[in-house]
Amino acid sequence: MPDLINGSGDACSPSRRRLLFNLGWTGLGLWVAASLVGLIRFVWPQVSDRPSNAVAVGYPEDYLPGQVVYNQGYKLFIIRDEKGFVSLSARCTHLGCNVVWNQDHHVFLCPCHGGKYDRQGRNLEGPPPRPLDQFAVRVDRRGYLVVDKDRIIKRGPGPLQHFHSERV
Ligand code: FES
Repeated sequence: MPDLINGSGDACSPSRRRLLFNLGWTGLGLWVAASLVGLIRFVWPQVSDRPSNAVAVGYPEDYLPGQVVYNQGYKLFIIRDEKGFVSLSARCTHLGCNVVWNQDHHVFLCPCHGGKYDRQGRNLEGPPPRPLDQFAVRVDRRGYLVVDKDRIIKRGPGPLQHFHSERV
């Protein structure tokens, strides 16, 4: 039977000491490796594989002041007024139907449940709970007007955020 009190038993045997020593170094090595992986992931640029959802919608000159233009392919509206450019989502904020622009009454109408929005996209009537979403707009280096559908501006009842064609 090992004598644990006097230190002559298995508790202090060289093989046990060696095992504890190796376990300690292994644990330290794992901790350092995990820290390095965390550090590299923090420092490395996070690049998404997902393609950008920024879409070119022509040149600024293609849009006349006062016009509301529907882009069917991207399901958005481009509005140009004296303050600059605005892009509104065509997706109704109630249940997502596509709204249409009514040029005679200057309102956006939703055919599904009768939602109505003013020219600024603010909800006027019907079930829509909030204004139409807005997308960020910019002019790229080639001079194209670009709508960034990833940069959605969820609006309150306030005014639209305009983007100017000089701003890139
Ligand atoms: S989806 Fe537009 S009012 Fe319901």
